[in-house]
Amino acid sequence: RPPILLLSRRLYPSAASRLPQAIIMGVRKCGTRALLEMLYLHPMIQKAAGEVHFFDRDDNYYKGLEWYRMQMPRSYPGQITIEKSPSYFVTPEVPERIRAMNASVKLLLIVREPVTRAISDYTQLRANAATASPSMSTSPTKSFEQLALFSNGSINEAYRPLAISLYHNYMHRWLEVFPREQILIVNGDLLIEDPVSQLQKIERFLGLEPRISTENFYFNETKGFYCLRNETSDRCLRETKGRKHPRVDALVVSRLRKYYGEHNQRFYELVGEDLGWPE
Ligand code: A3P
Repeated sequence: RPPILLLSRRLYPSAASRLPQAIIMGVRKCGTRALLEMLYLHPMIQKAAGEVHFFDRDDNYYKGLEWYRMQMPRSYPGQITIEKSPSYFVTPEVPERIRAMNASVKLLLIVREPVTRAISDYTQLRANAATASPSMSTSPTKSFEQLALFSNGSINEAYRPLAISLYHNYMHRWLEVFPREQILIVNGDLLIEDPVSQLQKIERFLGLEPRISTENFYFNETKGFYCLRNETSDRCLRETKGRKHPRVDALVVSRLRKYYGEHNQRFYELVGEDLGWPE
């Protein structure tokens, strides 16, 4: 194929919707959108619009693989199609369903320090609740501290934003179905600070030529995050990505970090990597 085809997203007759060869399987609030948009800087990547939720929602799953394929963007042979649906990670049926589609699919799991992830999740739920019923936005909502801890001071382990950060509880199911080498762990905290380091690791994992570099990013002081640059435009992610978090009591943060310590160790052992999260 002449190299010009590789550089262009123009569609050629061989372009067709194809099932994804790689999936961002989670974790919610760890930078799944940033990761997908950043990978899309690579000319050999095509991305599904929105979140497809094929494997985790029965009403979609039973529409069949042909329906799933039709949700995918057009791509030409050799390109890699990627979709992201963060709830795949926590839904029990999903690993087996993905294997049934393609046992050699490549999986990307982006994780963040668990307490930061939980606070980000809380911040999003609170923002969504305010949008759903605007009258609520003037009345006080419960603080993160109130939801994360019972009044006797013990940790509310069933609180969903805390439970989702117990990564090992979900990860073991994936490793029962997929070999470890088929899953790449992406460090979501590093994706914020130094996106190129994580993206180069992913290019190697996906067998892509290295194309993403520091030239593809600039730090936007107003947003406080890196924004994306390609030949034609500069753009930041939407304002729902990179929200200001509420200030959380330092004692609560350190209690929670201690609580996650042992769970994080279990996750490190499962994946054979130490993410170095503070305890
Ligand atoms: P916060 O909004 O809590 O800061 P997801 O897309 O999985 O919902 O993840 C959202 C998170 O992506 C944001 O959480 C933000 O920290 C993170 N993120 C990573 N890189 C980003 C970037 N370049 N711009 C905006 N947000 C980014």
